[in-house]
Amino acid sequence: MRLFQILFIAFVFFNFAVMPTQAKDMVIKEPPKSLSKYYPPVSKQPKWIQQMHKMSGHFGGVFLNLKEKDFENVDKHADKLVEEYKKTSEMVPEWEEYFDIKAAEEFATAAKTHDIVKAGKASGGLGKTCGKCHAENEVSVWAKFHWPSFHKIKVTDPVSEKEVEFDEYMGIISSSFKGVTVNFGESQYGRAAKALKTFKSRFMELKSTCSKCHTGHDVKRFYVGKDADNAFAGLSQELNSDKPNPGKFWKNIGMLGKTGCKHCHLVHRTNSFIQEMWEQPE
Ligand code: HEC
Ligand code: HEC
Ligand code: HEC
Repeated sequence: MRLFQILFIAFVFFNFAVMPTQAKDMVIKEPPKSLSKYYPPVSKQPKWIQQMHKMSGHFGGVFLNLKEKDFENVDKHADKLVEEYKKTSEMVPEWEEYFDIKAAEEFATAAKTHDIVKAGKASGGLGKTCGKCHAENEVSVWAKFHWPSFHKIKVTDPVSEKEVEFDEYMGIISSSFKGVTVNFGESQYGRAAKALKTFKSRFMELKSTCSKCHTGHDVKRFYVGKDADNAFAGLSQELNSDKPNPGKFWKNIGMLGKTGCKHCHLVHRTNSFIQEMWEQPE
């Protein structure tokens, strides 16, 4: 009896608690191979995006001209929208299901009555097909085609003078950071001061990576800029004093960890996580 009770409760809980969240789960699937044809480097122009702008322009054009009572142009945009929508539906075979040609044609017919209320109502069905595909694919398309990859970047370690992959360098930086904090925790201030020098030179070497993706030098104000300089100076001062102040030491460590490591991770690492999944051999 008790077992059934538990199973029943588990069943109810499962249905109420798990189902609704599942409906909102987001799956970041790698975009279909055939989409690559419409993006650099395969295509010089980002043809997929250009196609989106065409559809969006004609879609908006219908309503703009309805408001202006420029009915000749309403009809033109309505026809062009159907034409471009059909064309788009043939570009990526894996995505064909997202398109509803009938909904596009029904919208065009409604637009051509020149009744803005009818056009508005008929636009819903078509608009939904755009929205569904955007919700399911825009994030992955951005991660794949808009974000440069850190996995192709190499860094020369100023200590060993060896060139290593970016993620390996992160591991090296991380250990150097621990060399400072662990030794300090053990009250081995001399060792911590030595480790700090190594860590600082490795950390500041990250500056050499920014220009692989950024053209302006302005971005170097962040993560590897003045805040980091100040934190390193503060740490050095504590470690070289007769009686290092733990409060001041940990405050500067926290500062480096936050504005140096964490803030850069928040901006740059999310897309790396996604790209990494797709790069794993199947
Ligand atoms: C340029 C901005 C940047 C800064 C500054 C930075 N990181 Fe990273 N870090 C990254 C990126 C991007 C990745 C993901 C790399 C990848 O996917 O190959 C990463 C990955 C890591 C990893 C995981 C490595 C692995 O093998 O996947 C660790 C650990 C790490 N960082 C530690 C740190 C620490 C500690 C600091 C500060 C002392 C720091 N990082 C500063 C950008 C940065
Ligand atoms: C089969 C999938 C799919 C359908 C259907 C679709 N889109 Fe898109 N759309 C995308 C993707 C993917 C992006 C992101 C492209 C990028 O940023 O590289 C996008 C981006 C856009 C953008 C933004 C472009 C930019 O410069 O950032 C607009 C505007 C747009 N779509 C309009 C529309 C309209 C209007 C419709 C319907 C009539 C539509 N889309 C239907 C996949 C779709
Ligand atoms: C693998 C490429 C890559 C590397 C390496 C890289 N970034 Fe970025 N970063 C980007 C992209 C992409 C964005 C999004 C906006 C853009 O393109 O500027 C961005 C955004 C930023 C932003 C947000 C504000 C802005 O200008 O867009 C800052 C600040 C920044 N990066 C700083 C840095 C610093 C400092 C370094 C070096 C320590 C660095 N980045 C290294 C690719 C990179």
